[in-house]
Amino acid sequence: MKGIFKGYILFALLMLAATLLFGLLASWVFLYPQSFNNSFPFQQLRPMHVSAALFWIISGATCCTIFFSNEAFSVYNKSKKGIHAFIGLWIVTIITVFIYYFRKEYGGREYWEFPSWLSIPLLVSWILFMVSYYKPWLAIANKKPMYLIMWATGILFFFLTFLEQNLWHIDWFRQSYLRELTVQWKANGSMVGAWNQMIYGSSLYLMVKISGDKSIAETKQVQFFYFLSLTNLMFNWGHHIYNVPTANWVRHVSYFISMTEWLFFISMIRSFRSKLDEYKIHNHLIPYKFLSISELWLFLNLTLALMMSIPAINRYTHGTHITVAHAMGTTIGINSMILLGAIGYILRIEEINKREKKLIQYAFTVTQISFFIFWISLIAAGILKGYRSVELNMSNFQEMMYPVLRVLTVFSIAGIFVVLGLLLIIIIYLKRLWMIRTEAFGSK
Ligand code: HEM
Repeated sequence: MKGIFKGYILFALLMLAATLLFGLLASWVFLYPQSFNNSFPFQQLRPMHVSAALFWIISGATCCTIFFSNEAFSVYNKSKKGIHAFIGLWIVTIITVFIYYFRKEYGGREYWEFPSWLSIPLLVSWILFMVSYYKPWLAIANKKPMYLIMWATGILFFFLTFLEQNLWHIDWFRQSYLRELTVQWKANGSMVGAWNQMIYGSSLYLMVKISGDKSIAETKQVQFFYFLSLTNLMFNWGHHIYNVPTANWVRHVSYFISMTEWLFFISMIRSFRSKLDEYKIHNHLIPYKFLSISELWLFLNLTLALMMSIPAINRYTHGTHITVAHAMGTTIGINSMILLGAIGYILRIEEINKREKKLIQYAFTVTQISFFIFWISLIAAGILKGYRSVELNMSNFQEMMYPVLRVLTVFSIAGIFVVLGLLLIIIIYLKRLWMIRTEAFGSK
C-alpha cells in the first residue's frame, strides 16, 4: 500500500486528536458557559466532538478492514482505484463537514448535525468502498475465516443504516415526531452494530495474527458469536428506544441479545489470551495490551448497562450523564482501545525504540487510570442528578445542579489526563507512521 493509505491512517489519528480536543473544550465550556458562550459555545462544540468521534471510529475501522483484508485476500491490490476514490472523497467530505461546523452552519440530525447534502458524498464514497471490498471477496473460494464475513457484514450494514438514518428526508417520516425519532434512534443503534462488525472482525484477525493460530477464526464459538452480533445489529435498537412507547417484549429481547453479545466477546478474548505464551505476548506487547484492556472495559460497561436497565435504577438515570458514561465507556474503552491496538499492529509499533516503548506504556497507564476516574465521575454525576430531581423533586435547576457540577469538575480534570495520555500515544504512532517505509504497507 502506498502513500494514500498512510494518509488515511494519518487522517484517522488526527480525527481522534480532534475528538479529544473538542471533548476537553466542551467539558470546560459546560462548567463555565459564561466565559465561553460568545466564542465557542457548548452547542457548537458538542456536535464537533461527537461527529469527530464517529468519524474517528468509522475511519479507524475502515483503515483496519482495508489493511487486514489486503493481507487476507489482496483487496487493496485488486481494487486500488475504488479504494483511493473512497479515501479521497471520504476525507474531503469530512473536512467540509468541519468547515461548516466552524462557520456555525448546521443541519441534519443528532450525531450528524452538518448540512444534509453532505450525506450524498459520504454515501457515494461508501458505495465505492463497498464495491471495492465485495468484488474481490465474492471471487475468493475460502470465505471460512469469520473475520472476512464480519467485515462484509459491517460494510453492508453501515450502508443500510446510513440510508435509514437519512429517511427523515421523506415527508412521511417527518409527519410524526415520534415516528421520526424512533427511526433515528433505531438507525443510530444499528449503525453501532455495523461498525462493531468491522472492529470485532479486525480484533479477531489480530488474535489470529498474534497467536499464530488460524483456527481461532473458525471455531463454533466464533460462528455463534457472529450470528449473535448479527442479530444484535438487527434488533439491538430495542435498547436504544427505551424511552419511546413500544411493546415491552421488544425491549427485553433486544436487551438480552446485546448483553449476551458482550459476554461472548469477553469469553473470546479470554480464550485467545489463554493460548498465548510469553514469547508471543512479547512480540506484540502493545497491540496485546490494548486488546486485553478492552476486555476490562467490556466487563465494566456490561455491568453498567445491566444496572441501567433495572427499572428502579433507570427511573433515576434516564437522560442523565449515565447515558454519556455508557456512550463514552463503549466508544473509548472498547472501540478506541481495539482500534489503537489494531493500528499499532499495522504500524509494527513493536519496532520503535525502547524509550518510546516506555513512553507508550506510561501513556497507556495514565490513560486507563484517568479514564476510569472520568467514567466513574460521569456515573456519580448521573446518580446525583437523578436523585435530586426524582427523589428530592427539586425544580430549581441551579440548586439541583450545584453538587453535580462539582462532580463534573472531577470528570473534566480526569479528562485532561485522558487527553494527555492518548495524545502521547497518537504522537508516537504518527512519528512511526512518518518513519515507516511506504512499501512496508502490504507488499502483496
Ligand atoms: C476517544 C475519545 C472520545 C470518544 C470516542 C468520545 C465519544 C463521545 C460520544 C459518543 C458522546 C455522545 C454521548 C451521548 O450522546 O450521550 C460524547 C459526549 C461528550 N464527550 Fe466524549 N468522547 C471522547 C473523549 C472525550 C474527552 C477526553 C472528553 C473531556 C475531557 C469528552 C467530553 C465529552 C462531553 C463534555 C460530551 C457531551 C456530554 C453531554 O452532552 O452532556 N469526551 N463523547
